[in-house]
Amino acid sequence: MQKQDKIIEMFNEIAPSYDKANRILSFGVDISWRKYACKKVLKYYKPDFISIVDVACGTGDMIAIWQEKARMLSKNITSIKGIDPSEGMLEIAKQKFPNIDFIQAKAQNLPLENQSVDIVSISYGIRNVVERKQALSEFFRVLKKGGIFVILEFTKREKGGFIATLRDFYLKNILPTLGGIISKNKSAYEYLPNSIDEFLSKEEFIKELNDCGFEILDFKSFSFGVSSMFIARKL
Ligand SMILES: C[S@@+](CC[C@H](N)C(=O)[O-])C[C@H]1O[C@@H](n2cnc3c(N)ncnc32)[C@H](O)[C@@H]1O
Repeated sequence: MQKQDKIIEMFNEIAPSYDKANRILSFGVDISWRKYACKKVLKYYKPDFISIVDVACGTGDMIAIWQEKARMLSKNITSIKGIDPSEGMLEIAKQKFPNIDFIQAKAQNLPLENQSVDIVSISYGIRNVVERKQALSEFFRVLKKGGIFVILEFTKREKGGFIATLRDFYLKNILPTLGGIISKNKSAYEYLPNSIDEFLSKEEFIKELNDCGFEILDFKSFSFGVSSMFIARKL
């Protein structure tokens, strides 16, 4: 099996326990990172009527947050879609959000028209996309001119120090054990720290976004660099 197919298969296997594991392993703090990012994007993007596509949507966590923040800021979501290649993750998403349009597809081959979307989001997903540059150009292709791309991701550790060491200890020792107990699939939770190590640093990722034609509007590091938010605009 190819690397990308193995990753998708792994998400199929952990899908039933994914939400529970996520909340426990992040102590629920990921919700505040997601809320912050969605609110920021809706403030950057001026039109009141917006279409949103959440790629690597998993069990659909970003969908509820987009809806909540749009309501708060009096924005009208004209269309919101979730896209993910994992059947298992989409099954849970559809149970949670029966009225939302979910599509089974990969980020590197989006079944969407050119320049048809106002906002594309991807949370903790881009790390799993093997053909990342192809996916970035797909996001660029489907976004309207001036459209916004927001990414939440765990970026590679850049600095040393106590907090960074603590984060690495948690990711490499505690998380796989706890994740393994909750999901009964320890190797899936060993994949997480390894995939972070293999991913880019903040600067490297910003360069890839720029090379693709995106202008960086905002960057934020959450919880001492545990998670990062990038907001970019299609020029
Ligand atoms: C860590 S989960 C994140 C799910 C959700 N966005 C969240 O924030 O909870 C990563 C997701 O990426 C999806 N994924 C893996 N490879 C992908 C690809 N090539 N294109 C799009 N999504 C992919 C997986 O199926 C999985 O649902």
